[in-house]
Amino acid sequence: MLATRGLTWRIGEVAIVDSVDLDLAPGEFLGVIGPNGAGKTSLFNLITGLRRPTEGRVTLDGRDISALPPYQRARLGLGRTFQASSVFGSLSVRENVRLAVQAHRGGSMKLWRRAAADREVAAAADAALHRVGLAHRGDALAGTLAHGEKRKLEIALLLAGEPRVMLLDEPMAGVSAEDVPELVQVIRSLTGDSGRAVLMVEHHMDVILELADRIAVMHHGALLACDTPETVMANPTVQEAYLGESL
Ligand SMILES: Nc1ncnc2c1ncn2[C@@H]1O[C@H](COP(=O)(O)OP(=O)(O)OP(=O)(O)O)[C@@H](O)[C@H]1O
Ligand SMILES: [Mg+2]
Repeated sequence: MLATRGLTWRIGEVAIVDSVDLDLAPGEFLGVIGPNGAGKTSLFNLITGLRRPTEGRVTLDGRDISALPPYQRARLGLGRTFQASSVFGSLSVRENVRLAVQAHRGGSMKLWRRAAADREVAAAADAALHRVGLAHRGDALAGTLAHGEKRKLEIALLLAGEPRVMLLDEPMAGVSAEDVPELVQVIRSLTGDSGRAVLMVEHHMDVILELADRIAVMHHGALLACDTPETVMANPTVQEAYLGESL
């Protein structure tokens, strides 16, 4: 579904991302791990089009999307969690998701279409909120949400774009320990239907092991291993790379 071939991003002589070949199958959950500075976020930036690779390419459904800007990749079904800054804190949770749905669907100028379209947008937004377990917080101002709820809202905003491939960069960051299990359930449900695939960077190893079908290990920009959790954890090269470092 999604593939990278020889994907490389150099700054001067340094390969921040170094010849990465990655494949993501429909419905697959691929965890990405690696020490701080390994190039995980940079890899996501190349896949979503925020950065242009020095070499290599990215394909979606076999189509080369390497030259497309981020919004066109998003339109083809590649979604990435919104940065916290794209949440309007002074709007309600529901209004935020409605705006995201509207942005995705595009508005009709025809007045007679408006009422029906508005109802569809409202229904899609409510469905997304329900999916992430935030239906009861729809009226709350987004700025007043707790960390765990904010992460759920970010996932709801992402779902509004109906992505077929979702990229999550440390979705547990800043979430308190007691809120982690619920968020894990929400994230697990993302691959449950419609063959949607997820690529997730996460430092919490227990979360990765619980969710991932396969784990990709990055180290100094390169892909050290990409295999089932059992095989990756037993890989001596991986263990060596992590010696003395926290996952
Ligand atoms: N725009 C940039 N200019 C210069 N160096 C950069 C730039 N972006 C990233 N880097 C460097 O590239 C390396 C990889 O960074 P990246 O953010 O991709 O790592 P990461 O694996 O996501 O780390 P973390 O786990 O801390 O999020 C780091 O050494 C970082 O300093
Ligand atoms: Mg990062």
